[in-house]
Amino acid sequence: NEQPLVLGIESSCDETGVAVVRGHDLLSNVVSSSLDEHVRYGGVVPEVASRAHLEAMVPAVDRAVREAGVALRDLDAVAVTAGPGLASALMVGVGAAKALAVTLGTPLYGVNHLDAHIAVDVLEHGPLPEPTIALLVSGGHTSLALVRDITSDVSLLGETLDDAAGEAFDKIARLLGLPYPGGPMIDRAAADGDPTSLTWPRGLANARGGHRPYDFSFSGLKSAVARWVRERREAGLDVPVADVAASVQEAIADVLTSRAVQACRDLGVAHLQVGGGVAANSRVRALAEQRCATAGIELRVPRRGLCTDNGAMVAALGSELVRKGRPASDLWLGTDPSRPI
Ligand code: KG4
Ligand code: ZN
Repeated sequence: NEQPLVLGIESSCDETGVAVVRGHDLLSNVVSSSLDEHVRYGGVVPEVASRAHLEAMVPAVDRAVREAGVALRDLDAVAVTAGPGLASALMVGVGAAKALAVTLGTPLYGVNHLDAHIAVDVLEHGPLPEPTIALLVSGGHTSLALVRDITSDVSLLGETLDDAAGEAFDKIARLLGLPYPGGPMIDRAAADGDPTSLTWPRGLANARGGHRPYDFSFSGLKSAVARWVRERREAGLDVPVADVAASVQEAIADVLTSRAVQACRDLGVAHLQVGGGVAANSRVRALAEQRCATAGIELRVPRRGLCTDNGAMVAALGSELVRKGRPASDLWLGTDPSRPI
């Protein structure tokens, strides 16, 4: 009764990720990014990303298998991100996964990218406690979900009504003249700034009609920063980049962690898992830790390298699907660019 050997493929955005896991053990994790090619456009260009996936895919599969010390024929399953993501980018991964599954005669699992961001934590902290509340914060998504079973029962509690948290970081960084992707840049700049020097709107903190209690909104924050920066420049004053970065990071971390901890309290859930690229943010990690400790909630955040897009998250979810005996996808598996959580 060996644990299943699963290869995972991720190609929903600009990272070509291929990884091999055995059960909850990560054997290899190859990530090749086309980020450099998108920097001058200030965002990911789908056509450029897909072409890069095509070039990187076979070498990445080859390397992942080699570094794992296994052979392709040993694989028990192939898992791949089927959505959400960029349509043309997803197609490259799904095409490669199908080719492998057919050639090897293994089951194929099309997985949800958002669920995979949550599932990756099993590689670091073992089986996900059930239920767990998951805060998923990336460039495309900001969602709070109740996870009763990561392979079959994930329900959305709330999500952003406008920009995703990572998008807010990226857009505000651009206003400050910092290069794309802005999240890590703001994280770095914030280290030299004073988070209390400026205060920004906390979005939906003052109840606005119609939204659910765990929804988020970041467009107000972005507009407030844009207005403030414009007024400073028009007045001939310099923009204190480090202070803006630190205070913006504080506002985003505050909203994300307070709402997540509130959901745990309200629903009586003792475990919080934070995933997605923004979970790499140092203030989000620190504040989540602090607030969970106060509330008696167990916090699970994967190491930074597993928070951003990679193949390990897909392989981890694939491994859970195999272990729980969930049905595989058929070979007509399509991509679903706007697949919900
Ligand atoms: O999960 P991810 O790699 O890709 C998506 O599925 O979107 O997330 C990328 C997002 C980007 O918006 C990036 O700016 C943000 O995560 N990000 C960060 C940090 N590292 C990555 N945001 C804040 N602080 C960071 N350290
Ligand atoms: Zn992602």
